[in-house]
Amino acid sequence: MSSNDRVIIFDTTLRDGEQSPGASMTQDEKLRIAKMLEKMRVDVIEAGFAIASPGDFAGVKSVADHIKNSTVCSLARALDGDIDRAGEALKNANSGRIHTFIATSPIHMKYKLQMPPEQVLERAAYAVKRARNLMTDVEFSLEDASRTDFDFMCRIVEAAIDAGARTINIPDTVGYAVPEEFGATIARLMNAVPNIDKAIISVHCHNDLGLAVANSLSAVNNGARQVECTINGLGERAGNASLEEVVMAIRTRQDALQVTTNIDTKHIVLTSRLVSGVTGFPVQPNKAIVGANAFAHESGIHQDGVLKHRETYEIMTAQDVGWSDNKMIMGKHSGRAAFRARLEELGTSFANDSELNDAFRRFKELADKKHEIFDEDLQALVSESGIEAAKNIRFKLSSLSVTSQIGETPVAQIKLMIDGIEADASAAGSGPVDAVFKAIELLVKSKTSLELYSVNAITSGTDSQGEVTVRLEKSGRIVNGLGADTDIIIASAKAYVHALNTLDSGTKKAHPQV
Ligand code: KIV
Ligand code: ZN
Repeated sequence: MSSNDRVIIFDTTLRDGEQSPGASMTQDEKLRIAKMLEKMRVDVIEAGFAIASPGDFAGVKSVADHIKNSTVCSLARALDGDIDRAGEALKNANSGRIHTFIATSPIHMKYKLQMPPEQVLERAAYAVKRARNLMTDVEFSLEDASRTDFDFMCRIVEAAIDAGARTINIPDTVGYAVPEEFGATIARLMNAVPNIDKAIISVHCHNDLGLAVANSLSAVNNGARQVECTINGLGERAGNASLEEVVMAIRTRQDALQVTTNIDTKHIVLTSRLVSGVTGFPVQPNKAIVGANAFAHESGIHQDGVLKHRETYEIMTAQDVGWSDNKMIMGKHSGRAAFRARLEELGTSFANDSELNDAFRRFKELADKKHEIFDEDLQALVSESGIEAAKNIRFKLSSLSVTSQIGETPVAQIKLMIDGIEADASAAGSGPVDAVFKAIELLVKSKTSLELYSVNAITSGTDSQGEVTVRLEKSGRIVNGLGADTDIIIASAKAYVHALNTLDSGTKKAHPQV
């Protein structure tokens, strides 16, 4: 296959993925995910929207400073301040890209931008030129392209390429497209724009109708050579095209798609697990490629077939995407060196010996309670260490006891450190978790509402750690909290306290598309 047949994989988990309500990530979490993406050989990592807040700027900058083998990108509206801030955050990148965009559909231009089409066209070319003064690699997106007038689309694409854009992205921003029509638009564009050979055509599909992957592949079949996607399909509303599905479809059906990617698929499962752990968005068991059941064969007929000849029911192997690698087991006799080495493979390195020692102590504590420690346990443990090590946290769980008995109302007694001072409370509830949350609220009085409470077993077996996600809402702001423990009541308390700390520490940030 020629280089024309390679599809560039552009991952936007750290930008569009982070726009999912409650999925915001710290600078350190972003870097951990970026390192896994780099290991997976993702071509372009969109690390964030640099102007959104000082935290976002620092997040993009830290990814740009550390990632050497993938291009690092920042989003910027077609505004001077956005473009300059993106350029500044990417200053030290080995290979950096500014991704600037403006909406081009009649509905967005009229109601959101309140700009006539000619002004939008001018602004697009101006923004690309400004970005090109800072960086040679510039991408331009036509937001809401799938609802944009085709002739206007051609004019704006031509102008953006003339202004120096190397990549032109055609987003299906609201997930409105259907595969045949979307593919045909890409084919028409390739024919109609005179300078189209000077740029790579990219697509960015949202999943509102569950068609994001199908639309992306249809575009590839018609000449698109970059696909924007996210791990686990995370993203605004119903999410973006899932990276693992796009990549594995291209790999498994090369006969139909006739293209390749550069992705090292063995790292897919661990990266999926890391993103899920960091964001608190669990992966549904029947999710393609990365769901717990994706390679499990329940029915007798299937099992028999797979044992006789694997290809009867399997079109790819679990090893191809890293499932078997994911089963590395450690136990209480494992040493510090093995612990550190495995965590490095999972994308976590320790800044100093004291961080390593702290995490190793937690590992030993867990190994005392739990016979076998899996990669998922190690990932949860690192998330926990990160949560506790975070600077300036206001609330810390000191102790917890709960009584629960058939026929009796459960009661929780809790001690919390609040700004360094210990306070205690007790409360009754309809269940032990309810009692714990009520006791915490007696002390904190957060005025939040609980939007979501979910428990997942991290691994199999009754000694598995429970991983709890708590989502809280206050004045329109949504945060997720995570907690893991072999005792799910303690995990729940940790998750609630984590959500409160996140709410307390968060700063307001701009949304690029509002
Ligand atoms: O969905 C969208 O249109 C986007 C753009 C900013 C690329 O995320
Ligand atoms: Zn998007």
